[in-house]
Amino acid sequence: MKKLIIINGPNLNLLGKREPNIYGSLTFTEFLDEVKAKYKNIFIDYFQSNIEGELIDKLQEVGFSYDGIILNAAAYTHTSVGIGDAVKAIETPVVEVHISNTFNREEFRHQSYISPNARGVVLGFGLQSYELAIQSF
Ligand code: DQA
Repeated sequence: MKKLIIINGPNLNLLGKREPNIYGSLTFTEFLDEVKAKYKNIFIDYFQSNIEGELIDKLQEVGFSYDGIILNAAAYTHTSVGIGDAVKAIETPVVEVHISNTFNREEFRHQSYISPNARGVVLGFGLQSYELAIQSF
């Protein structure tokens, strides 16, 4: 069985109540339950943290044994050299995901420290971005 993990960064624990016009009204738990039910032949692990170092710890922990990482580093995408370096350091391929199309938003969201070392990037399809990333493995 393939082993994937979805890693979500800061403020993504608020999905469902946070700016629903941008991020939708479904909570991530509701979405994850649906996805797990749909992809029963894939082990889908989940981790969320608002803390940069915890995201790096998790990447290091899973990054030599899992088959794939689906990473939405949220705001840290645009600021974190540390998370970018961790993505580069590990062996498991990382697919970068964003719910919104970061390129039609503010300029500071156009920069990503993840993309140069990601296997691919999926963005702008709402929560479906995660599902497309799962399908890529
Ligand atoms: C986001 C986009 C980021 O710019 C933002 O900081 C987020 C969420 C997205 O999924 O669209 O928190 O990663």
